[in-house]
Amino acid sequence: MKPVRVAIIGCGGIAEAHAAAYAAAGAQAEIVGCADEIEASARAFAEKHHCVAATNIDELLDTVKPDAISICTPPNSHLPITAKAAARRIHVLCEKPMARNVDEAHEMIRLVEESGIVFMNGLCHTFHGPLNQAKGLVNSGKLGELVHFYNRFAGRFEGVEKRWFADAEIAGGGVLLDTTVHSFSIFRHIAGDIEKVRAVINTRLPTKVEDTAAVALKSVSGITGEISASWLTDPGEWIVRLYCTGGVIELDYNRTPNLRYQLPKGDWVEVNYEGPDRFALEVAHFLECVRTGATPSVSVVDGARTIEAIDQAYRTARTDCA
Ligand SMILES: NC(=O)c1ccc[n+]([C@@H]2O[C@H](COP(=O)([O-])OP(=O)(O)OC[C@H]3O[C@@H](n4cnc5c(N)ncnc54)[C@H](O)[C@@H]3O)[C@@H](O)[C@H]2O)c1
Repeated sequence: MKPVRVAIIGCGGIAEAHAAAYAAAGAQAEIVGCADEIEASARAFAEKHHCVAATNIDELLDTVKPDAISICTPPNSHLPITAKAAARRIHVLCEKPMARNVDEAHEMIRLVEESGIVFMNGLCHTFHGPLNQAKGLVNSGKLGELVHFYNRFAGRFEGVEKRWFADAEIAGGGVLLDTTVHSFSIFRHIAGDIEKVRAVINTRLPTKVEDTAAVALKSVSGITGEISASWLTDPGEWIVRLYCTGGVIELDYNRTPNLRYQLPKGDWVEVNYEGPDRFALEVAHFLECVRTGATPSVSVVDGARTIEAIDQAYRTARTDCA
């Protein structure tokens, strides 16, 4: 089997997680090129991962001709880079949030559908091994029916006000778009399509975007949920809880890689997880879809659904709750 030839676009923090995941795929993938608007970043990444470096994405795609790219740049560039790839029929694994807003997300659906490329949105928590164990536990019925979802991803993001994450023009929003996009994807993964979203947001940092958010939501199937996120609180908390009619399941990412669950009047039971990390599983799935042409489990439409839910959250935060 020939390796899928991959180029990484954007050589910052998350690019290293992608590179490690492609490396974990062994002979199934080969990193052949990288691009970054900062030449030194592209060069350093290329040296480390033994590939071609570029500052011009078009040039890289036309000379190296990768089969696929990982888009690891900030959100304002996700649509234009997807357009470059789609025009050349190059497959895309695009980091979250897929787009800055609904219009961009819908344009990305159009590009993907017209070109026929494989497009996957990197909502990596849907590949988190213990989360999928939790989903399996819910589906087994052992804890009765899932009633309510709780998730908080929060922690001190030092210096965020000076980075692109807090620049509305580049990021499209604040913590609600950047962080709770994972929460919305987890909720959809476990509870199904989202019917209703309400939010409140607040800003303490000297930025134009929100640094703290609280969301209430409900799935079409009637499961309610609470999501909260903040760039300010310390210590951080990374928790998912699934409340069922006959028990509760908890993932506390900071405590242990394992999930635990409790039946009525029972002690907590911990379930071991020893599999690959979520980035390795995400990339393995992407490579499989590139090889087979299958639609990824987190497709461009799934990515757009998370952006639509966040748009609903922003609209309610700005009107009902301003
Ligand atoms: N899946 C996750 O858990 C996770 C975690 C962190 C970041 N992310 C996402 O990954 C993306 C990148 O985040 P990061 O933390 O790596 O940011 P970063 O700032 O560390 O890196 C971004 C890189 O992209 C380069 N860049 C910016 N615009 C570019 C353009 N138009 N063309 C070429 N290069 C460009 C920058 O020079 C920088 O090197 C964001 O969408 C972010 O939300 C996802």
